Amino acid sequence: MEAFSTRFAHRVACLLLAMLASVMLAGAASAAEPAVEPDPASADPVARGAYILRAAGCATCHTDVAKGGAFLAGGRMLSSPWGAIAAPNITPDPQTGIGGWSDEDFVRALRDGKSPEGRIYYPAFPYTAYSGMKREDMLDLKAYLDTVEPVIAPNKPHELRFPFSVRLFLHPWRWLFFAREPEAVAPAEDKRLARGRYLVEALGHCAECHTPRNMLGSLKRGPHLAGSRYGPGGISVPNITPDVETGIGSWSEIDLAFFLRTGFTPYGDDVQGEMREAIDDGLRHLTQADLEAMAAYLKALPAIRNPVSPTPSPRPAFSSGGDW
Ligand code: HEC
Ligand code: HEC
Repeated sequence: MEAFSTRFAHRVACLLLAMLASVMLAGAASAAEPAVEPDPASADPVARGAYILRAAGCATCHTDVAKGGAFLAGGRMLSSPWGAIAAPNITPDPQTGIGGWSDEDFVRALRDGKSPEGRIYYPAFPYTAYSGMKREDMLDLKAYLDTVEPVIAPNKPHELRFPFSVRLFLHPWRWLFFAREPEAVAPAEDKRLARGRYLVEALGHCAECHTPRNMLGSLKRGPHLAGSRYGPGGISVPNITPDVETGIGSWSEIDLAFFLRTGFTPYGDDVQGEMREAIDDGLRHLTQADLEAMAAYLKALPAIRNPVSPTPSPRPAFSSGGDW
């Protein structure tokens, strides 16, 4: 009982801190961010699109927060097994952003990973996950992006190593690994799990960090969400399958949903780094029902035993193969 009340008091304290942090974050938000409240059930496609942007975490990569960059104007350099990739400007500026794009151009980028001219994108843009996004959600997202303040910001060049600097290298990669996800269809039996799956797999692209990769930088199929010793920033990413010892098996659904909103684990740790960004830029805006659906889906996954070192591991040379 005592343990319970200590834990409860801790949670209340965490929640208050998190609320304070979100007020501070809201104050710091760029003026160019439209003042529309993200709402998945709104009659307004712009409010629904704002919600999809949060659930899909688009702002994290496409805003260079560290350098004071404008909302969605790109410029952030992302590390990848190929070198550093610059996230482009996705504000509706017609010259330097995506202002001139049709709905079909936009759908093609997210679904097929191809530019309007047919150029193949580097999979650092997680279209491998977004290809499972429902078409109506893509169009709502586009409606929202059209309302963002256009920013003139030319795209930075990528800093890639040879041969990855040659975009043609992506053709064999694509041929080997890119199977366009079928649109996520909700199995009739359990709508909540289907919603959780859609949010985790297609929108939240959790596997991009939480699943280990093979030596070509593609996600391994077997150990899905079982953690990776060399995540995107070169640090280890925990196992989020419900294995009791090495994963999140001892977390309740409520623990998980609470974590996804606040970044506080049931052990009182405050999450840092890329997961903190995923929460602050995206997940904390989601409804409690959606966070719980994600938690239920994670708890329903097969438990995979995979101890992932909690300490940062140095990233191996690309050629050493395996999990990067
Ligand atoms: C993990 C980082 C990351 C996330 C998350 C992300 N992107 Fe990107 N995106 C990129 C990178 C990197 C590129 C450039 C790829 C290239 O040049 O081959 C890109 C390219 C694009 C492009 C093509 C722009 C152009 O000028 O050709 C669009 C459109 C886009 N992203 C939209 C989105 C949307 C919408 C979301 C959310 C649903 C999103 N991105 C989420 C990293 C990301
Ligand atoms: C950009 C990379 C990235 C993405 C995307 C990402 N995570 Fe994480 N996640 C991390 C890292 C790194 C940590 C460890 C952070 C730490 O220990 O401070 C983490 C920690 C966690 C934890 C805590 C696990 C533990 O044992 O402490 C959970 C739960 C989690 N993530 C769930 C998710 C879910 C669900 C999604 C998708 C909605 C997701 N993550 C997307 C990188 C990511």
